[in-house]
Amino acid sequence: MENEKRAGFTSSFGAVAAAAGSAIGLGNIWRFPYTVGQYGGGAFLLIYIIFVFLLGVPLIMSEFIMGRRSGRNVLGAFRTLAPQRKAWQSVGWLAILSSFLIFSFYSVVAGWTFNYIILAGAGKFEGQSSEAIAQIFSNFTTNTWSPIFYLGLFIFFTALVVVKGVQKGIEKTCKVLMPILLLLMILLCVRSITLDGASKGLDFLFKPDFSALTAQGVLSALGQALFSLSLGMGCLVTYGSYVRKEDNLLKTSVSIAAADTLIAVLAGVAIFPAVFAFGMNPASGPSLVYEVLPNVFNSMPLGIVFATLFFVLLTIAALTSTISLLEILVAWAVEELHMKRIIATVFCAAVVFAIGVLCSLSFGALHDFTICGQTIFGLFDKLTATYFMPIGALALTLFVGWQLPSADSRDELSNGGALKCSYYKIWLFTVRYLAPIALVIILIAGSLGAEM
Ligand code: TRP
Repeated sequence: MENEKRAGFTSSFGAVAAAAGSAIGLGNIWRFPYTVGQYGGGAFLLIYIIFVFLLGVPLIMSEFIMGRRSGRNVLGAFRTLAPQRKAWQSVGWLAILSSFLIFSFYSVVAGWTFNYIILAGAGKFEGQSSEAIAQIFSNFTTNTWSPIFYLGLFIFFTALVVVKGVQKGIEKTCKVLMPILLLLMILLCVRSITLDGASKGLDFLFKPDFSALTAQGVLSALGQALFSLSLGMGCLVTYGSYVRKEDNLLKTSVSIAAADTLIAVLAGVAIFPAVFAFGMNPASGPSLVYEVLPNVFNSMPLGIVFATLFFVLLTIAALTSTISLLEILVAWAVEELHMKRIIATVFCAAVVFAIGVLCSLSFGALHDFTICGQTIFGLFDKLTATYFMPIGALALTLFVGWQLPSADSRDELSNGGALKCSYYKIWLFTVRYLAPIALVIILIAGSLGAEM
């Protein structure tokens, strides 16, 4: 039992597939392209990539160090590594709370995507005007029961994978789904760049125009990097506890960041040339994927097929992310509340579904129910993105940089001295100074009202 509880990933590819599966999600394919669109394209992309590798990679390494060192869930990791300093456990609790909240509203959007596979596959967008397509989106999301049904279905599938455990559930599923995701993405990219007029979209994405980049854009790039890499809520602490002792944490972290960035960039390549080729607006915001893209697919040969594949891709990406969100919670419930895995899974999924229903209704029946001017969905999104994730990430780097003895972090990064770890000082400097400063700036700017 004890052994089964701590079963880990069986290979480094398994670890990378699972963690990249967590990182690659709606954040890459839904949020990233519209954020690039809003902040002017290429220059934003460049800054984003710098943040991912300069700050993201050291932060991934830090979470992995905590997880692998302690062999525990996010709350247990703080408890095990700093038993005398109980205050740190509040960071663990914050991570658990963020996971519940993010999982809830994330699954609502994931549920929409699920429904869009069916709508696209049934040709419901074919021959429709862009007004009609926008109407389909708003009719669906403001409806009471249908989005709740898809929300429940999505959480159910997530639970089905997680209940099977780390190896037979999470690792096995991600090892199959991630290569499929990459293939689908390449296929969509090829379709998009072979359209007439595609080069405008590629220029938009790759030609840096620094005059279009604002301070707000730089902050958003940093926020997006944190969100996209699943940082700041103990996801990678939990997965880190399943990484084999002989795996190289630097290599694993760089692979995850590279895979995540590759998919985000490919999502841009799949989307922008098509958007430009059909004269749509690249800066249309969150509705880009649901309202703009169906028009784009409509106008291309074999549109139904590509539209369906696109939403399948988006669903896979979302599923491997919700799997990791549920695992943060299940690992916590199993180890801290001593529940059996199956009970823990049902319990956490049920709580998430209950909160998710409120988030889903935010678009319809509860639209006018606002707290601090936000719907429930908006509030959870804002709270987690603006406060909880940056605070979590800040506390995690301070913990690993200053609280954890450096002998321990060096031991983890060098695998007990087996690997040369010449970058150790640079890593430590980043984790102690650079990352905390960047995170404090994000936090202050975020609470002053800058939209992340
Ligand atoms: N990284 C995910 C995405 O890009 C979203 C996310 C943020 C997440 N934090 C997480 C996923 C924690 C799993 C766990 O879509």
